[in-house]
Amino acid sequence: QRPLRRLLSCPGTVTADLRREEQSSGSAETGSEDRTPKKRFSEVQNERREQAQRTVLIHCPNKINEKKFLKFLSQHGPINNHFFYESFGLHAVVEFCQKESVTSLQNITRTPSLGPEAAIPFKSRYFNLKLRNSLNQTSELSSIQCSNQSSPSSKKLYQLLCCAESVDDQLNTLLREFQLTDENTRLRYLTCSLIEDVAAAYFPGCAVRPFGSSVNSFGKLGCDLDMFLDLDEIGKFTAQKTSGNFLMEFQVKNVPSERVATQKILSVIGECLDQFGPGCAGVQRILNARCPLVRFSHQASGFQCDLTTNNRIALKSSELLYMYGALDSRVRALVFSVRCWARAHSLTSSIPGAWITNFSLTMMVIFFLQRRSPPILPTLDYLKTLADAEDKCIIEGHNCTFVRDLNRIKPSGNTETLELLLKEFFEYFGNFAFNKNSINIRQGREQNKPESSPLHIQNPFETSLNISKNVSQSQLQKFVDLARESAWIFHQEGKDRPSPSSNQPWGLAALLLPSVANNVSLSKKKKKPPSERIKNLLDSIKSSGSENSTATNGR
Ligand code: GTP
Ligand code: MG
Repeated sequence: QRPLRRLLSCPGTVTADLRREEQSSGSAETGSEDRTPKKRFSEVQNERREQAQRTVLIHCPNKINEKKFLKFLSQHGPINNHFFYESFGLHAVVEFCQKESVTSLQNITRTPSLGPEAAIPFKSRYFNLKLRNSLNQTSELSSIQCSNQSSPSSKKLYQLLCCAESVDDQLNTLLREFQLTDENTRLRYLTCSLIEDVAAAYFPGCAVRPFGSSVNSFGKLGCDLDMFLDLDEIGKFTAQKTSGNFLMEFQVKNVPSERVATQKILSVIGECLDQFGPGCAGVQRILNARCPLVRFSHQASGFQCDLTTNNRIALKSSELLYMYGALDSRVRALVFSVRCWARAHSLTSSIPGAWITNFSLTMMVIFFLQRRSPPILPTLDYLKTLADAEDKCIIEGHNCTFVRDLNRIKPSGNTETLELLLKEFFEYFGNFAFNKNSINIRQGREQNKPESSPLHIQNPFETSLNISKNVSQSQLQKFVDLARESAWIFHQEGKDRPSPSSNQPWGLAALLLPSVANNVSLSKKKKKPPSERIKNLLDSIKSSGSENSTATNGR
């Protein structure tokens, strides 16, 4: 009821927004605050992965007859779900009920003959649909309604924030508008599945799993797609088959270290994606980074992808963040707003460098919520005490054990509002003793810094590492100054909030404005009218939609 009333009071945005709200309410694990996910991370991953294996991607002509298209495909078996989107042309994602339907469709598909050019006959699950006798069909063709895969326009976000009923409503609105939709999540898993098909040509039985913000529940529409080539499944399979007095081992090539093995594997997969991978472009092999990776653009889905291997701890970090995001409905709303705030003030960037990353910001929010009284989030050590034998997880000698069943964790008794929490977040970190203390979500309290980096956030699993080692003193100072200024703006606002009809930015919208500190040097220049400034600012948030991660940073 409430969103409907709010949308109806905002001119010009009604129909599209209602459609969007309907769509996102269908999401099980990325839904809004009243649909708190209770599924285990591994359950979600397995379900989505299996769903993706029954799914195909089809590049279509711009206009088609949807009914006939579905009828044509359902010759291969019943269809469970489908949607269309735009990325270098119209694409359809079609999920069959059974995996066999995909093989059946592949069997009637031909490799194109391209005149003087030659095609590499790679038979993937990414197809191209052509119309036969297109002249006869013209009258039946119509434009297709596309599912949106990008974050809202600055204008729309501005309208929505200004029309909100309260600061809490603003934070929830921002979350609802930026969070990954069910369809976007499907497309992410499908993309991993398509890459898995390529990798499986070399490593049968491997898995390519998404991690990072695509699955940890903190991803914004447009964020990069981090994927991890999991070769452990192959090992597990053989271990199960071992019995009796004999032990069989594969003959393998040996290389000097795990790192060299990772580099060799990624080098080959990178080459393969470059040469044969349909829809893959701009493949870069960044093999000398601390965490070697292959970066490429999957043009068919529109995702910027980072493929790594031997990166199990990062997957476990994603699971931990997913747990924290699911434990209390305020967590995600707060993290999204802090990330947008940081992006709006250029505290984060798409280019790797001395800036704070989204991953670090998320850790800061989690830590802050552990410090509330009563705490909103439990410490990692507490989650470890709730773990049972099945939860036990040791990766490369690091104890990564914590309870994985969300239903075994008691909800917090804390009832603070999002408005209060956001204000206190800025006050807390505006006054944090960064020079001597480290942020530690394992224990949920400040620790003495073990080394002299300006910002020290302990890696929750590899506890001797600092996830924000890259952050310079000046970037940290900028964060502190902006946090103080935002706390001050909040404080002022509480005294005299503009009337709803004045069209003045307020609450979260005011916090996203360029800061006073940044404007001092510009004050001699003619100031732009507020609405234009807001528009520019919101444009900058939007551009973070295509935000590329700082993936090579400090991992
Ligand atoms: P965005 O891509 O910015 O939306 O967030 P993200 O969480 O996906 O960050 P990013 O793509 O940079 O990294 C992907 C994942 O790698 C993170 O979620 C973490 O699990 C892990 N990661 C990133 N940076 C670090 C780091 O400095 N240390 C460790 N241990 N893990 C990291
Ligand atoms: Mg990422």
